[in-house]
Amino acid sequence: MSVQDQAASSAGPLTTESGAPVADNQNSETAGVGGPVLLQDQLLIEKLAHFNREQIPERIVHARGAGAYGTFTVTADVTKYTRAKFLSEIGKETEVFARFSTVAGSLGAADAVRDPRGFALKFYTEEGNYDLVGNNTPVFFIRDAIKFPDFIHTQKRDPYTGSQEADNVFDFWGLSPESTHQVTWLFGDRGIPASYRHMDGFGSHTFQWTNADGEVFWVKYHFKTDQGIKCLTQAEADKLAGEDPDSHQRDLRESIERGDFPSWTVGVQIMPAAEAADYRFNPFDLTKVWPHADYPVQEIGKFQLNRNPQNIFAEVEQSIFSPAHFVPGIGPSPDKMLQGRLFGYGDAHRYRVGINADQLPVNRPHAVEANNYNRDGFMYDGRHGAAKNYEPNSFGGPAQTGRPLWQPLEVSGYTTEGKTPLHAEDNDFVQAGNLYRLMSEDEKERLVSNLAGAMSGVSRQDILDRAINNFRQADEDFGKRLEAAVQALRG
Ligand code: HEM
Repeated sequence: MSVQDQAASSAGPLTTESGAPVADNQNSETAGVGGPVLLQDQLLIEKLAHFNREQIPERIVHARGAGAYGTFTVTADVTKYTRAKFLSEIGKETEVFARFSTVAGSLGAADAVRDPRGFALKFYTEEGNYDLVGNNTPVFFIRDAIKFPDFIHTQKRDPYTGSQEADNVFDFWGLSPESTHQVTWLFGDRGIPASYRHMDGFGSHTFQWTNADGEVFWVKYHFKTDQGIKCLTQAEADKLAGEDPDSHQRDLRESIERGDFPSWTVGVQIMPAAEAADYRFNPFDLTKVWPHADYPVQEIGKFQLNRNPQNIFAEVEQSIFSPAHFVPGIGPSPDKMLQGRLFGYGDAHRYRVGINADQLPVNRPHAVEANNYNRDGFMYDGRHGAAKNYEPNSFGGPAQTGRPLWQPLEVSGYTTEGKTPLHAEDNDFVQAGNLYRLMSEDEKERLVSNLAGAMSGVSRQDILDRAINNFRQADEDFGKRLEAAVQALRG
């Protein structure tokens, strides 16, 4: 079709942003034939200026990800544990949006890398959106949000070299012994999922559930992949990352396109509130799992992803998930990491997408209207029309319910820094050692080889010694083998 013919195409004429028909989208307007370009060419100016502003800040972590919509269905009666309405009836369905991601890489990085995977879920419930912003790992590297920026700096590019540096990564881990459990997990067989469909997810933190009588339970979420776990070896991942940097993103989209809808079985571990104080370790410590022997995983539902977003920028890049998005019957625990995250995400959204990010189609509640007195700001959609913008008012505006979403936490004592209640097994190494000892001989071999490979890039002996010492404290054999493997690689 010639350029002239496009004006007659069925889509109608090409227009400027203000709707005026465009005569020529191929040539700038010039002063005479072959002369300089004119300032009056508003189409040219509009196109160049819009293009310059196409990008928004990428997520400071989890920049690279893929999303899909689907449905969550309740499969068990949990009403004695939570009054959340979307969990109130077997068979009840709720729309969900999921975004899976890697953590350290920037937007253009490859998918097949050794890195935790983000596992973020948004449930569009009739009581507002509930976000569960988890990972594919049940634990995390640190237990206090105050260490998060430092930790992430070591995962990102060094200020001098501009690359991720093994020195920084293992220096921080070596000096943060609480990371030993998660690092053992990350360098083991599950450290590089084959795709987003073939991994489990975890809420990781402990959350509060409250039933209709106000009774409190502590819960941990588990999302078991129905596709089965599939992972890549380091060599397979290195090859795939080079050949198909978009491997995870493509896999998710294509499986949904061909009707092969991925699904996960949702389970929870439930601890009655009274058991927390005397549990053998702090049940709000994100570096530890609750052994299933103590608190078995009970199935409560399933979710399936069955619809691809149509516009990645609008629906995935601009999607926002916040651990602070709770609904009645679900709330936070005193986990220090979670408490930090309750602030961090909304703040990131206001910076990255803007003050009205919650109004975008992917982010706003779908099963209920957001109804409050926040107004205006960049990109405000004017949804409130002429309604009064203050509360209380005598004009029938929305009013507070008087009923908090979750139960208050009992606290005592003075404000302190760095103190958490002591439990008998508040130890950084026990669970890392248990994980190592659970592995088969082959798994141990691969774990040691993966870790040694990564550590061989460390330039300083003291950093290496400290890092290896953490694994030795988890298990003597682990430390010994790692030391030998690193020495062999460094010659
Ligand atoms: C993304 C902060 C720990 C899972 C983010 C973002 C920030 C952040 C600022 C980007 C948000 C955005 O721009 O939309 C923090 C802080 C943490 C922390 C301060 C520690 C205190 C964790 C933990 C998990 C996690 C422990 C999982 C258990 C995620 C996921 C995303 C994310 C899945 C991507 C969400 C999406 O797909 O949009 N985090 N994070 N983070 N974080 Fe964290």
